[in-house]
Parts: sequence; C-alpha cells; structure tokens
Amino acid sequence: MKIEGFKYHGTNQAFYATYKDGAWDEGVMSDSIFFEISSVAVALQYGQSVFEGLKAYRTKNNDVLLFRPDANAKRLKGSCERLLIPPVPEELFIKAIKQVVDANRDLVPSYESKGSLYIRPFVIGTETVMGVRSANEFLFGVIATPVGSYFKDGFNPISLTTTPYDRAAPNGLGHVKTGANYAASLYPKHLAKQKGFDDCLYLDPKTHTKVDETGATNIIAITKDNQFVTPQSKSILPSITNQSLQMIAKKYLGMDVIHRDIPLHELKDFEEIGACGTAAVITPISRIHHEGEEFTFESYEKLHKLYDLLQGIQYGDVKDEFGWVIKV
Ligand SMILES: Cc1ncc(COP(=O)(O)O)c(C=O)c1O
Repeated sequence: MKIEGFKYHGTNQAFYATYKDGAWDEGVMSDSIFFEISSVAVALQYGQSVFEGLKAYRTKNNDVLLFRPDANAKRLKGSCERLLIPPVPEELFIKAIKQVVDANRDLVPSYESKGSLYIRPFVIGTETVMGVRSANEFLFGVIATPVGSYFKDGFNPISLTTTPYDRAAPNGLGHVKTGANYAASLYPKHLAKQKGFDDCLYLDPKTHTKVDETGATNIIAITKDNQFVTPQSKSILPSITNQSLQMIAKKYLGMDVIHRDIPLHELKDFEEIGACGTAAVITPISRIHHEGEEFTFESYEKLHKLYDLLQGIQYGDVKDEFGWVIKV
C-alpha cells in the first residue's frame, strides 16, 4: 500500500523514559501515543520542548536501515542544552530508536513505494510549575509512523514566497529544534499557502536581506560552475540532510561546497535552488517570489543527481562509503 503525504498514519508501539531526581530511567515501550500530563507542565505553558526527526528505510532485500541516528542524538543534545533540559544520553537515544523501529518493522513502507518510517524523538518538561523556570522532571518519547512525501510526490518543484515574518530571532532559537520556532512558522506558512505558494522562505531576522531557510528545510543553491552554496546563518537549523549532501557533492560530483551569506538579489545568479531536509529529501524550487519580484529556476540536473545518490544510500542501493546507515 502506498502511504500518501507526510501525515500520522498510526503506530504499533512508542518508547517513553522519564527524568526524575537527577537521572533518566531506562524507559518502557507502550502501545499508546497518549499519556497523562499536568495542565501546567512547563512544556505546555512555556514551551520547554525539543524534538528530532529521522527516518528508517526498507531496502530491496527487505532490510530496514536507519540514516545517521548518531547525528540526531548529537543535535538533540545541543537543543536540550539550550533549553536547559538534561541531555538524553546517546546510548539511551539509540536504544530507544532501535526498539521503536523494531516494534514498527511491519509499518516500514515497501522499497517500491519509496515511503519511509518517520521517527519522532522528543523531550518535554513535565513538572507542574507556575512561575517561569525550568522543569526538574522530563519525558523523553519516541514515536514512529509511516510517511510519504512532505511536499509534492517524487522529485517535483515547489514555489516559495518570502515573508515579512521571522521564525527565529537573531540571537534566539533558530539553530535549535524546539517547538517555539514551529509555532512561529504556522501563520506565515498559512499566508503563503493562501497566496498559492507551497511554503514561505525566511530571510535572516536581523537585516531581512539574506536567504535563511523554510520552516522545515535548509536551502541549497548550485552555481553554473559547480559550486554547492548554502547559507551561513546563526538562525537556521543545522540540517543533517544538508551536511550529508555536502559530503556527497564533494565526493561524487566534485563540487566545491561553500558556506556563505546568500543576499536575496543574488538568487538570480544561481542555476538550481533546492529545499532539503529529512522529510523533504531534496525538493527543487522553481520559483521564489519577493515583493513583486520573481526568481525562476528551470534546471534541476545537479539536484536530481544529489537526490539519487542520497536516496540511493538511504535505501541501500548505493554503497555507503561514509558509515551512515545502520541496519536494525
Ligand atoms: C527548520 C528546519 N530546517 C531544516 C531542517 C532539515 O533538517 P534535517 O536535514 O536534519 O532533517 C528541518 C527538519 O528537521 C527543520 O525543521
């Protein structure tokens, strides 16, 4: 069966561990995605919540592969530190992910469908607290569900519009995977969709002159002379997909990888522009609208090569020379 879209399509089992009296317990499996929580838990009232997103893929031989869970464990640690949450030890994180994938093995979509099992680890402050302060009790959960494409099905271009709103502040939480950034993105995305765009493109929050990212993906830009350019910004999430693509671009396509500011007006000089992330993989961008100005992109050749190589590694068709995939 083909799984349509990036939606919750059910689960078999989830994992929950709790932090109390200064330590994480070993956690338990549960057949429910529901749990009881205080109405005044810090996560609900003050947004003390961080999360991750990664995927498991079914290969042609019916194996199930995880892609770089160690990188997600490290990013979650950074997010926890910024939100004053006790970091989840990497061993506990990896153990939980493997247990959840194993318990949901039958839900990993078939190789042919090109779907995947999306895994959502999260940590929330659960203590009942009235004044603004960090919780002393936390829940680490991992749920998983089969998903299809985030944007359009397959390798199909999308259109974006810039927005006068910001998802993050200049010295805020943009580099952290926390609920607040996504709450801030709901309204601008709604407005972009109302105007017929697939999503909005955030500009750097300090000057509004440079490209940052979308609400769920980094931006990559390819030049005519084989450069792979991606924004250098403190307010974007360090994307594991982007970092992986940079290594693929260097090794397999001989590209120069450059981290730098991308002034908006420079968009017209790029040959190809893409949005990348775990959910979106690489989605080519055909059009970016900015205050009455249009930037259009017709070529997706290099992006397509990058997409095929990345997905090839993730689905076990291309030899993993980086040590990224783990069989569960
Ligand atoms: C704001 C934002 N940027 C970029 C990404 C892409 O990151 P990754 O490639 O690690 O999924 C995500 C998704 O996690 C995101 O939410």
